[in-house]
Amino acid sequence: MGTYRIAVLPGDGVGKEVTSGAVEVLQAIASRFHHQFIFKYGLIGGEAIDRKGTPLPDETLHMCRQSDAVLLGAVGGPKWDKNPPHLRPEKGLLAIRKEMNLFANLRPVKVYPSLADSSPLKAHIIREADLLIVRELTGGLYFGKPSGRRVENGEEAAIDTLLYKREEVKRILKTAFELARKRRKKVTSVDKANVLESSRMWREIAEEVACDYPDVELEHMLVDNAAMQLIRNPKQFDVLVTENMFGDILSDEASMLTGSLGMLPSASLSTTGPSLYEPIHGSAPDLAGQNKANPIATILSAAMMLRLSFGLNKEADAIEKAVQQVLTSGYRTVDVAKKGQHVVSTKDMVDEIRATILDDEAIFNIMAVYA
Ligand code: IPM
Ligand code: MG
Repeated sequence: MGTYRIAVLPGDGVGKEVTSGAVEVLQAIASRFHHQFIFKYGLIGGEAIDRKGTPLPDETLHMCRQSDAVLLGAVGGPKWDKNPPHLRPEKGLLAIRKEMNLFANLRPVKVYPSLADSSPLKAHIIREADLLIVRELTGGLYFGKPSGRRVENGEEAAIDTLLYKREEVKRILKTAFELARKRRKKVTSVDKANVLESSRMWREIAEEVACDYPDVELEHMLVDNAAMQLIRNPKQFDVLVTENMFGDILSDEASMLTGSLGMLPSASLSTTGPSLYEPIHGSAPDLAGQNKANPIATILSAAMMLRLSFGLNKEADAIEKAVQQVLTSGYRTVDVAKKGQHVVSTKDMVDEIRATILDDEAIFNIMAVYA
């Protein structure tokens, strides 16, 4: 029995619906396992711009730093698309990642057998695929300076910079090797070393770090090939580790193995303070406010929080197993539903998952693995 302080940043669009679903699921866990979760809410993204004039207000950052972990929904929306760069909702997300030193973004991609036919890929290709994308989150193209507009020989031009310092590359690679040790002991380091100098340094450092992990296999893969291999034969991968923007792109692609972007959770880890958990999907303005969004990515992010920030493994298991059970029973939000399947709302999906967690018989079956 423990007490944990969780900062909740719902953000924009479907962020509100999916975080409220995850909070309800965490409350079910609290009552089932006799823990206390204290939720505090903060503003981030577009709503923070509207109400406080900045996408990451100081009070939000302060509250997050005081918490044991942060649960975030999503930011962004058409309303703010024409804003200047410093007043874009996404700036709030990038700022919180940087300010809280959340350098390691873990994006597990696991195919649920009951969803195999929701994927646009053939079932035999994705069946049993189980990989982890480790995305560097506080460097690279997202943060390199200079970045902005300028005039070159009288013509308008724009620049972004892909810059990495050695230590930044080393720590994300070490994280990937540590994680691979607990999995199938293979690291695929994804880069563009045939073109980019930053990738050539990345590759060198990967070789050096690998010397400390003789039990883990290291392979290098060019990012364009990795994009192709993810679709051709995803089962070859265990841990993929890569630069910020490559990881952003590859993780959206990899979500299609599971059938929907609405299925993928993530953890953004810091070694110096609380970590942050968020679905990999965005604010989905077309679905917002309609009780249609898939809450599973955020609910699974909450499970990652229990496991990685609080060490509550059987509680995390209870969430993951409940999700699996509800999917096996045929419940589907609209994003993963096939013709003729039982389509449920965000709230119904949350209620089913909660009920499974609170149900004596279901939980007995789930927990039997610990007996
Ligand atoms: C993600 C998102 C963000 C990113 C956006 C919203 C800034 O796509 O978390 O993958 O690019 O990192
Ligand atoms: Mg993305």
